[in-house]
Amino acid sequence: MRRNKPILFVGGGRITSALCAGLRLGKYSREIVVYDRNPDKLRALRTESRVTIAQDLQKALPGAEILILAVRPASVPGVLQEIAGTGTWPRLCVSLAAGIPLAALRRSLGNPAHWVRAMPSPVSRIGRGLTAISFDTAVSKAQRARVHKLFEAVGQVIEIPELSFDAFTATYSSSHGYHALATLASAAQRAGLDRKTALTAAAHALADGIHYWRESGLSVDELLQEAVTPGGIAAATMAAMDKAGYRQAVQRGIQAGITQARRNAPSHKTRKATTASS
Ligand SMILES: NC(=O)c1ccc[n+]([C@@H]2O[C@H](COP(=O)([O-])OP(=O)(O)OC[C@H]3O[C@@H](n4cnc5c(N)ncnc54)[C@H](OP(=O)(O)O)[C@@H]3O)[C@@H](O)[C@H]2O)c1
Repeated sequence: MRRNKPILFVGGGRITSALCAGLRLGKYSREIVVYDRNPDKLRALRTESRVTIAQDLQKALPGAEILILAVRPASVPGVLQEIAGTGTWPRLCVSLAAGIPLAALRRSLGNPAHWVRAMPSPVSRIGRGLTAISFDTAVSKAQRARVHKLFEAVGQVIEIPELSFDAFTATYSSSHGYHALATLASAAQRAGLDRKTALTAAAHALADGIHYWRESGLSVDELLQEAVTPGGIAAATMAAMDKAGYRQAVQRGIQAGITQARRNAPSHKTRKATTASS
């Protein structure tokens, strides 16, 4: 029987580390190959997630089933140029790079590459992440199924239009959870709770509410009605937060994230190449 071709990560940093660990946890069966310019990161990945280290990008590319581009947006043009220079790459390519549009990716390697944008999170490491994906029109039904299978191994997958990708990226960051947790716990500490109790109370306030929303099937408005007694403490706390600009602060944050994502979209001038493997 023909052995399944491996998936190849180009870039072995934070998100690759989380995805590889999650894929192993999710019993994803294909071999995982990683290429990075830092040998220490590669060795750590091999120890942690039993990945195969690619010493040579040119040799690794033709044998891969899916290329996963996992370098920072600023490094994308250079890496794509390097890939184009090798002459052969997988037909199915997935970019994790925030803000880099499909049109730019398509231009970089020409028609033989079928591109997908994906936005996972580090929570993939424990198999409970969410990944948004957008497919270029050239991606076939079978290729779509392969990408679904890959990211479903680390959590839920949703397809969104590419036009929504930057808004999704700004909204969907596990950092929002940590930021909210740190902010609420720090306010509780200032109000007199010790650090451990403040963190426990804040974590339960945030996580339990969201867990209940997921499990109950109730709307956010219904849950607010249940939790907020008119004239009570939660009502006073929320009203004061809103009056102090809570909603505007969050809106500005999301807008700043979208602006940053759009700054990532370079005018790619990578040489257009014409070869691709299966
Ligand atoms: N982190 C997240 O939570 C997350 C979530 C979703 C999507 N993403 C996207 O995923 C991408 C990677 O993010 P990250 O946080 O994992 O970044 P990261 O930790 O900096 O990892 C990128 C890795 O790629 C390496 N690299 C860069 N250029 C290279 C080249 N020419 N050849 C070989 N290796 C090269 C980097 O090496 P150096 O350290 O030497 O530069 C680094 O080890 C970004 O585009 C980001 O938008 C990240």
